[in-house]
Amino acid sequence: MEDTESNVELILYRRGDKQLADVFMELGRDYMSEEPEEQRDRFLRSVLDLQGGPDRWLYFLKVSDEVVGFTHFKVDTTDRPGWGLIMELYIRPECRMRGWGRCLLNQTAEEFKQKGINDFWLTTNTEAMGFWRAMGFVETREIADYNGQPIMVKQLRG
Ligand SMILES: CC(C)(COP(=O)(O)OP(=O)(O)OC[C@H]1O[C@@H](n2cnc3c(N)ncnc32)[C@H](O)[C@@H]1OP(=O)(O)O)[C@@H](O)C(=O)NCCC(=O)NCCS
Repeated sequence: MEDTESNVELILYRRGDKQLADVFMELGRDYMSEEPEEQRDRFLRSVLDLQGGPDRWLYFLKVSDEVVGFTHFKVDTTDRPGWGLIMELYIRPECRMRGWGRCLLNQTAEEFKQKGINDFWLTTNTEAMGFWRAMGFVETREIADYNGQPIMVKQLRG
């Protein structure tokens, strides 16, 4: 795969896009492979259904016409109001360690910045923590109530 900038595209999912919805379900099933099938599919469909509302986005990264991953993020309104909350980030296993996760995250950060958002937070599994550290996130000592995972933050100001 040629990794030139010209064949890298960030695509926003819009409700009703059946083709992207199918890709999301396929990638999502791997992303959440440890969850029971029914619960996992229900969650994935709920993510698709939530799109189109204000301050929430599902983006796909396409490289040479192949979707290599996705990210789902929103402007937080509860725990850290006004911060960017990265809820999901996934790169296909065969495409990992080639800089696509970083690329998708950087492009997401640009979207946030255009909205005047410079502070980000997320919860992470332990396997991905090294990735988030490499992306400049730092651990807080907090554990999220809703999923029991550690919280990491990145503040571009202050
Ligand atoms: C986490 C994930 C998105 C990383 O994507 P990726 O495309 O492989 O990451 P990149 O190639 O852009 O890596 C960027 C940097 O992070 C590092 N990195 C990537 N994955 C890492 C890991 N699991 N542990 C430690 N460091 C990691 C790379 O070495 C690289 O460092 P460098 O810039 O110093 O060379 C991918 O592994 C994935 O989809 N995992 C499954 C889903 C998941 O856990 N998502 C996070 C949810 S919390």
